[in-house]
Amino acid sequence: MEPMVSKYKHLYMNAKNLSWVRKMDNYKKMNGVKSLGQYMTPRFVAEFMCSLISKPPSASVLEPGAGEGVFLEVLLEKGFKNVKAYEIDSRLGKKSPISITYCDFLKIPPQPIYDVVIGNPPYVRWRNIPEGWRNLFKKQVYWRRIMNGLCDLTYAYIYHSVNFLKDNGELIFICPLFWTETLHGKHLREYLSKHGSIELLINLNEAKVFEQVSSTIIILKYVKHAKLPYVKIVEYRSKQPVTQHVVNRLSSLIRDLEIHSREPSFYIDDGLYRAYLCEQFVGNEPWHPIPPTEKIVKEIETFCDVLRIGDIAEIGNGMVSGLDIAFRLDREELKELNERERNSLIYVYKSGTLERFLPNREPIPYIFTNHISSGKELEQSYPYFYQKLSRYRERLRQRYQYNKDIPWWHWVFLRNKGLFERYNMKIFVPSKERYDIRGYFRFALIRDEKNRTFYATQDVTAICVRPETGVSIEYILGLLNSEPIQRWIMFKGFSRGGVHDFSEEPIRHIPLPRINWNNDNEAEIHRLIETVVKEILQHRKLDKIDEVNEYVVKLIELKKDARIFQQNLDVYGKGYDF
Ligand SMILES: C[S@@+](CC[C@H](N)C(=O)[O-])C[C@H]1O[C@@H](n2cnc3c(N)ncnc32)[C@H](O)[C@@H]1O
Repeated sequence: MEPMVSKYKHLYMNAKNLSWVRKMDNYKKMNGVKSLGQYMTPRFVAEFMCSLISKPPSASVLEPGAGEGVFLEVLLEKGFKNVKAYEIDSRLGKKSPISITYCDFLKIPPQPIYDVVIGNPPYVRWRNIPEGWRNLFKKQVYWRRIMNGLCDLTYAYIYHSVNFLKDNGELIFICPLFWTETLHGKHLREYLSKHGSIELLINLNEAKVFEQVSSTIIILKYVKHAKLPYVKIVEYRSKQPVTQHVVNRLSSLIRDLEIHSREPSFYIDDGLYRAYLCEQFVGNEPWHPIPPTEKIVKEIETFCDVLRIGDIAEIGNGMVSGLDIAFRLDREELKELNERERNSLIYVYKSGTLERFLPNREPIPYIFTNHISSGKELEQSYPYFYQKLSRYRERLRQRYQYNKDIPWWHWVFLRNKGLFERYNMKIFVPSKERYDIRGYFRFALIRDEKNRTFYATQDVTAICVRPETGVSIEYILGLLNSEPIQRWIMFKGFSRGGVHDFSEEPIRHIPLPRINWNNDNEAEIHRLIETVVKEILQHRKLDKIDEVNEYVVKLIELKKDARIFQQNLDVYGKGYDF
């Protein structure tokens, strides 16, 4: 079955003229694993995935990157004969009599003509995708909706494949997890939630499916233009590889979820496997399913009355020297400086210097030279700076230049220097953070000293609370370090492979209960949180965090009660004249 020419035809026809098409031959000769994502699916996994198809054997099926045809083999055994398969690499062997069309699937104009798309899309990092292809992704409107310089081929494949599905058609893919939770995966997630629902998400966590792949792998079933209230979630949480036995257990858990498909509180957790229903993902939010046990996250989510950090704070990532080792000074070196040099130092917090509530050490002195306009001035007036930076001159010249001609003694990107100077109190957080290392995320209050501003390098992001918002920075600090908000970040924040992203946009979305100042109880809790946080800051009494947690939980309950009260008023109040 050859797809008919669609409204997208012109895009593909233009592409034919591009010189990169000629380069495809060379491309095919490149290492297939790296550039074509050739990780073949074990047969028992293909069998399991085919068992997830709800359509009858007469359904039309597409396998968009067939490899050696393991899915084709299984599909045929199950009676599916109306199968179309594409594969770019004609050198691969063939396991099934179903014919394979050897061409570039991404150049086939999309037509919604299949009941099922099934397979294992190629995973190829952006830098390994041939340049011509990358240019196409950047230039064509069709691809630009989804693709950017941080995406890989999986994104393109999922997007393109969905566009081949009929209404109620099913996409069943095995692929890496990361695009479901990263910031740059948001366009794809948004596209998917706009055009359908996720029926099933199996997270295999650290268990290996493919020999050479160490990424977290998921199996996904998506139904186009269906509106399903819940996603069936099944998790396998073991370091042991996925075997036939594991997929049998996954199948039986899916059956359990089907039986209990109207019970959102249904939950199985035997330590190795977890199965539950979670509400359908909406918009571009990360697909972090919230188990029914995480009540607090749900409660925060269902508030009608939350502030987002972005509503009350300016957020900015730290400055880039381009070569920290050249600019960073130790205590001994400070003795070598003349007065002018001492006056040109800046004091910087790096991610390693941060802890919960407070930094764990003094800020680090850094050479700052961006006001020095010539190498001569540097040499004559700042002799120690000159001597130190000269040692790294070649490496400094090779730094990324941000399309500018940056003198070798300058920092390459001052980014939010002005922001750090405008606020003398700010909250710093490592811009990338693993929760599992410490069991918490670190938000630290940074207070400038008299005449000394503190800055951050690019591994840190600053949250600067606008003074006119009326909430105290201690209250915000307490909430950010509290268990409920940290659970929210874990489940709803952006991450990749367990590393949470605290760049500007993810931070902007973090919710905080909005204090209703007319409600004495809420105002009192604000005061209590502020007081405990001040104590923690003053005496480094970190054990007081339990008190903060209690108050935050209380505040969330108050908000919930207020909401229920309001809802009741809305329902029962109707028709009465008060
Ligand atoms: C991860 S492998 C999966 C192969 C097979 N479906 C399986 O599960 O064993 C992805 C396959 O997609 C093929 N591929 C990569 N880019 C392609 C493209 N643009 N068009 C068609 N096939 C492509 C690769 O050569 C590779 O065989």
